[in-house]
Amino acid sequence: AVDLNPAVLPLDWLLGTWESDEPGQGSFPTITPFHYNETLYFTHVGQPVINFMFNSFHAESKKPLHRESGFIRIQPGTNNVAFIIAQNSGLVEIEEGELNGQKLALQSRALARTSFAKKPYVQQISRVFQLRSDGRLEQTVFMALENQPLTQHLHITYRRTSC
Ligand code: HEM
Repeated sequence: AVDLNPAVLPLDWLLGTWESDEPGQGSFPTITPFHYNETLYFTHVGQPVINFMFNSFHAESKKPLHRESGFIRIQPGTNNVAFIIAQNSGLVEIEEGELNGQKLALQSRALARTSFAKKPYVQQISRVFQLRSDGRLEQTVFMALENQPLTQHLHITYRRTSC
C-alpha cells in the first residue's frame, strides 16, 4: 500500500472503514424521528487528500437512504480542514473547520443544488466528528432550512471494522 501523504497525517485517525455500532438517531422538527445504520469509508492514494464515502440505510427496512462522498484537504501549515462533498439528494457542499486533536468541527461555506431539488432547501450545515477515548467515532450533524434554525438532524457512533 502507498504511504499516507504527510499533508493529511493529522487526519490519520479517520482512515479505514467504520460501521455504526448501534443505530444512529435522526430527527428534525419537521420529520418523524428515525433510526439508521451507516458505513463510512476513508481511504487515500498517496495524494495530499483523503477520499471518503458514507452510505446510510434505514435501520429496520435496510433500505439504502442518504449517501455522500468526497474529498478532504488540509490548508498547508494550518489546522483548517475542508470537506468537498456530493450528496445523492442533489446537494453539493464545501464545509470547513478546525481540527483540534481528534475532533473536527465543520461549517458549510458553500451549498448548491440541482435546479429540480426538493424543497425545503438546506441553508446551512454544521457537523462534528470526534474520536472518543473508547475508540469509537461519533458524528453529529445540524442543519438549517428555510424557516428552521440550525437544529440537530443526526447523531451516530461507529466502530472501526477495518484499517
Ligand atoms: C429528511 C437533509 C443526512 C435521513 C431530511 C430533509 C432534509 C435533509 C432537508 C427534509 C426535512 C423536511 O422535510 O423538513 C439532510 C442533509 C444531510 C442528511 C443535508 C447530510 C448532511 C441524512 C442521513 C440520513 C437521513 C445520513 C440517514 C438515513 C433522512 C430521513 C428524512 C430526512 C429519513 C425524513 C424523510 C421524510 O420524512 O420524508 N434530510 N439529510 N438524512 N433525512 Fe436527511
